[in-house]
Amino acid sequence: MRTVNVPLGQRRYTIKIGDGLLNRLGPECARLKLGPRCAIITDTNVGRQYAQPAYNSLLRAGFEPSLIVVPAGETAKSLKVVQSCYDRLAAHRLERKSFLVALGGGVVGDLAGFVAATYLRGIPFVQVPTTLLAQVDSSVGGKVGVNLKAGKNLVGAFHQPRLVLCDLNTLGTLPMSEYRAGLAEVIKYGIIYDSTLFTRLERDLPKLLRREPKILTTIVARCCQIKAEVVGQDETENGLRAILNFGHTIGHAIEAISGYGKYLHGEAISIGQIAAARLSAILTRLPLNDATRITDLFRRAGLPIQVKLNASQRAKLFAAMKLDKKVSRGEIRFVLANRIGKVVWGQKVPTSVIEKLLIADSRG
Ligand code: NAD
Ligand code: GLY
Repeated sequence: MRTVNVPLGQRRYTIKIGDGLLNRLGPECARLKLGPRCAIITDTNVGRQYAQPAYNSLLRAGFEPSLIVVPAGETAKSLKVVQSCYDRLAAHRLERKSFLVALGGGVVGDLAGFVAATYLRGIPFVQVPTTLLAQVDSSVGGKVGVNLKAGKNLVGAFHQPRLVLCDLNTLGTLPMSEYRAGLAEVIKYGIIYDSTLFTRLERDLPKLLRREPKILTTIVARCCQIKAEVVGQDETENGLRAILNFGHTIGHAIEAISGYGKYLHGEAISIGQIAAARLSAILTRLPLNDATRITDLFRRAGLPIQVKLNASQRAKLFAAMKLDKKVSRGEIRFVLANRIGKVVWGQKVPTSVIEKLLIADSRG
């Protein structure tokens, strides 16, 4: 098992990465001195496979768990589903010392985390991420929230989990498209922070695509370490943490205009990261060779690298980008790269430059 610490003073916590950790959920929660009443929030797909072992482990450790199953998919990140969770927690009489377990991917983690942040003005929660994306990114750092029709993650909070348990065995049942989507966040860490990681990904991608346990453990642990270092320095995104949004401005807008669900989050940010790399080549001197390596790695990972949009779709994309949380005084700000492993945030990008790039893709 590998352990990564998230250094946040009183809110510090540990990420545990290994095989079979789901069966240790009860004893791990017992160490946190919480409870006894708790609720597992999961979705229909994950619940079918993993709710029982999680529930039994909590029961054996002396907890009184309740199980809440929400629909699978991005649509569950809604205020309507939040409301239904509150009702279930009230029925189970959860108290301030009670806790939630988010068992699932980023959708369940963001939703359950938001419920935990707001129910009784905040109760503890534990993340048990079951997608690659959630294990390397969304379960760490405390960003929780839900979507509005107007845009993604527009309602939310910072609420750190008390523990993150990454059971690598759960990745065995993850559909390949979802696994690839997680690789988009993995590649992101190489681009924004760690050129050695990027080179390693170029070398070991075939092993990673085969989900070989040894490389998977190393890569998940390195990504968590990077996220922990970034969040440890800038918990509420006043500066450095913005680098984690590389490729997300365009990516989130693609998700919004295509109706959540057409593109997986990881697929949308794959397109967004390649667009950001190309903008970087124009605006922040990213060497062309680095931009090509970035595109090649996403392509080899089986991720989409561009989107074709007509004029009306492009207009919608710009409107969606302007709703992005990273907009400051009406100006869209980007994270751009100087080279693989080094990025700068808060970069103004003229709309005309983005427009040119999108038009080129639509013709290509
Ligand atoms: P997801 O939670 O929708 O999971 C993807 C699909 O895989 C779902 O159908 C789910 O039921 C299924 N699934 C999950 N684990 C499985 C398993 N082990 N076996 C079989 N099926 C499984 O999607 P995701 O990609 O994990 O997360 C995307 C969400 O995460 C988006 O809403 C995004 O905004 C959010 N996100 C949040 C942060 C953050 O910092 N909070 C960071 C990145 C992404
Ligand atoms: N995934 C972006 C962040 O956690 O800040």
